[in-house]
Amino acid sequence: MTKRAVVKGLGTYAPPRVLNNHDLERLVDTNDEWIVTRTGIKERHIADPEETTSDMAEKASRIALQEAGIEGDDLDFVIVATNTPDTLFPSTAARLEARLCDHPVAGVDLQAGCTGLIYAIEMASAMIQSGNFHRILVVGADKLSSITDYQDRTTAVLFGDAAGALVLEGQESTEFGILGSYLRADGRGGDLLALPAGGSRLPASAATVQERLHFLKMNGNETFRFAVKAMPEAVEKVLTKVGMTLDDMDLLVPHQANLRIIDAAVRRFNLDPDRVVINIERYGNTSVGTIPLALDEARHQGRVHRGDVIVLVAFGAGLTWGANVIRWGH
Ligand code: UT7
Repeated sequence: MTKRAVVKGLGTYAPPRVLNNHDLERLVDTNDEWIVTRTGIKERHIADPEETTSDMAEKASRIALQEAGIEGDDLDFVIVATNTPDTLFPSTAARLEARLCDHPVAGVDLQAGCTGLIYAIEMASAMIQSGNFHRILVVGADKLSSITDYQDRTTAVLFGDAAGALVLEGQESTEFGILGSYLRADGRGGDLLALPAGGSRLPASAATVQERLHFLKMNGNETFRFAVKAMPEAVEKVLTKVGMTLDDMDLLVPHQANLRIIDAAVRRFNLDPDRVVINIERYGNTSVGTIPLALDEARHQGRVHRGDVIVLVAFGAGLTWGANVIRWGH
């Protein structure tokens, strides 16, 4: 048995304000029936304008730290996976660290689209296995409402805001924890889902604002096509990597982008619905927030047991895709 990163704490947060499909009917040319049948989404949680990504991250992190029975100062490292940092710099991780810890610890932001949390879990796991770090706070937090164009019906109906946090800790000779991961990135599909302006490629100007280039743009059909291939691929590859098969998997926690994408994976693998977590109807796509939200909800429903093999799988901007296998418990 080797040293592994185990999950000692999990916390999540979604802002209280709810935007339902009927509210959206008043903003764009859409209707509840279209949104439900094409996406499975009924409502999403939206942060107030002054509530930042780091505010949501802090709320989720405090719950995770409490569950792990530790203080912020017991951490060695903070990784925040986000596509909507409070500011391009300083990092959201540094802002979060200042609120959680009395003494400085290391911290960095990670940007890998909606796959960010999968990447962050694997990076934290490898850092812990290296022996150089013992406890790492891994956060996925996104305020997608801050980059969603509420004049564009093709994207406005999809997204919501949320955060999730996990405390990972090194444990010797354990059968529990992060068993392995599969990660991929392919920039050839990068323009399918992008935030065009605000970076060095297209700095902010009056023209970029006028052309609404500070809002995310997506080719929905092509992204959909990519997703229905990427998610099953990641699940199969990660299970093979850890020497398991679909029969060993107790629970699949997929990125919640579109119910039809999840359904396609479920059909492909012929999975019993009890083995798949779906909560997209109440949150929409919260990017890096979807997986912790769904996992936490499943846990509170009594669907997660000590020793269960759980597969987390996501895809997103980059394009990126990937999966982690966790044996739950510590
Ligand atoms: O984590 C981020 C990754 N993103 C995703 O995973 C998104 C992947 N893509 C999707 O989920 C789907 O492609 C969408 C939900 C974005 C779109 O669903 P679709 O079934 O692919 O619809 P479509 O784009 O092919 O559009 C069908 C029709 C079009 O009208 P016409 O041309 O047939 O007359 C659209 O203009 O639906 C229309 N439409 C809408 N109608 C009412 C598009 N958006 C809306 C809307 N309300 N909100």
